[in-house]
Amino acid sequence: MNNAVAGFSKLSKTEKINWIAETYFSNAEEALTIIRNYWNSDEKLQQLHDEFIENTITNLYIPLGIAPNFLINGKYKTIPMAIEESSVVAAASKAAKYWASRGGFKTTIIDTEKIGQVHFTYSGDSEKLHAFFDRIKPKFFSETQSITKNMQQRGGGILDIKLKDKRSLLEHYYQLHATFETKDSMGANFINSCLEQFAATLKEEAQNEKLLADGEKLEVIMSILSNYVPNCLVRAEVSCPIEELAEKHITNPQEFAERFLQAVQIAEIEPFRAVTHNKGIMNGVDAVVLATGNDFRAVEAGVHAYASKNGQYASLSHAKIENGIFSFWLEIPLALGTVGGLTSLHPLVKFCLEILENPSAKELMEIVAVAGLAQNFAALRSLTTTGIQEGHMKMHLNNIINQFEATDEERYLIKAHFKKTAVSHSAVVEFIENLRKQTK
Ligand code: MEV
Repeated sequence: MNNAVAGFSKLSKTEKINWIAETYFSNAEEALTIIRNYWNSDEKLQQLHDEFIENTITNLYIPLGIAPNFLINGKYKTIPMAIEESSVVAAASKAAKYWASRGGFKTTIIDTEKIGQVHFTYSGDSEKLHAFFDRIKPKFFSETQSITKNMQQRGGGILDIKLKDKRSLLEHYYQLHATFETKDSMGANFINSCLEQFAATLKEEAQNEKLLADGEKLEVIMSILSNYVPNCLVRAEVSCPIEELAEKHITNPQEFAERFLQAVQIAEIEPFRAVTHNKGIMNGVDAVVLATGNDFRAVEAGVHAYASKNGQYASLSHAKIENGIFSFWLEIPLALGTVGGLTSLHPLVKFCLEILENPSAKELMEIVAVAGLAQNFAALRSLTTTGIQEGHMKMHLNNIINQFEATDEERYLIKAHFKKTAVSHSAVVEFIENLRKQTK
């Protein structure tokens, strides 16, 4: 079957959903019902969502959960998390409560610098280019004035612009490497607008200043921000005397602290483990990034690049035991915004930011880093004590129950049974099937 379609974006929404239903589903009516079931009954709200992207046909829901009791720098925070993975919010809440009675989380903003680059090629003399750059550098600032005016009023703007010679990596390749402070906005639009103006200025001034001799060329390849922001960095930490680590599953705190430390050390030296270890951190990070309307793909890309900054992919978190004190911390780059973008457009994002008491971008960086550290702590605690499956399967039980559309009575019986018995997918399915046979 040829499923190509011309001019899809120009079709009406009804035409689009009909095309999808008829092209890909044997029961088109059923497909249309699924699509419509996820439409918001408030037409205005649905239209808002329709307009976020092109070709919206419906909405894909992800649960929005709440992890309370996060004591961060002496203040309690309730953290909204948007995530589909069943155990994440439960783990975050548990870790929050655990550390709240052990001094809570401490955070520090290390820096907030963002980066953007104009990538270009130049075939002439390098010294001539450097001298030209030094002469025209003020123009990059003056000609972006209309873009930077508001940002400057908020205390941000362009921090610096450097010319970088990259010819050892690629023939004729240079960059304008610019750094920015974007205050409470993530700054993507601001940075990209500045960069495109830098590129225009570069080309124009090359002509004005007669930079190019016969046969020489200067070509702008592209202008774009970098999602690698190693100097937009936040640190989150927990620590306490080893004996205070004790609780139900930690009967020997010294042994626990040592095993925990070894688990972190393994992730520091073994990339296969480091990736999974960091994935656990990102369970917390992404969930808050998403709930607050930030760009989780940008955060993911930047964080994983940072995890490889020493040439080998490694753990983002670290631990130590010193003078009887257990400390556990992470440092991650986070380019986040609490103004602009979805933050005021999406009613639920606005709602989440309100739960977080309308944080500044710096405060949001701290909260997100804490969510990542809490998640990492919860995962390592389970992994080094009971194993991860106990908690996971308990949460997974709900998913299986839902999949079988269990009645309230069945639900009660299944939950009672699996309180005492190990949960596995096949065991739950068998139990439900037996239950249904008996009641036939
Ligand atoms: C699962 O989503 C995350 C973990 O695999 C993280 C880890 O292994 O540290 C449990």
